[in-house]
Amino acid sequence: MGEHVVVSASELSEGDRVVVELEGREVAVFRLDGDLHAYLNWCAHQGGPVCEGALTGTYESSYDREGNEVSLSWCREGEVLMCPWHGWEYDALTGECFSRRSVALPSYPVEEVGGDVVVTL
Ligand code: FES
Repeated sequence: MGEHVVVSASELSEGDRVVVELEGREVAVFRLDGDLHAYLNWCAHQGGPVCEGALTGTYESSYDREGNEVSLSWCREGEVLMCPWHGWEYDALTGECFSRRSVALPSYPVEEVGGDVVVTL
């Protein structure tokens, strides 16, 4: 266990990610919505490199009982991480899997220290 400098903070702009190997594990660091997030690059489905997948959005549905209408709207653009192997989707801000709420990507503490992005394993 220890602290690891993964990249200079200036090299990780909003919406960027970097995947590095730390202590034998692939860890991805994202800067999203102004915050840093670090996850293990390992999908809970079959171990795919989830953190290398597309950052996309998702549809949110709503139902109007009186009009008996369902409407869909695109939301969360750039905050949904889609595994490139079979498409499982995770909330990139929390690591939570959308289709299986009891599943989440393992996460690690990450912060900026003296101009560097530091992950603690
Ligand atoms: S390994 Fe990620 S969706 Fe299958």
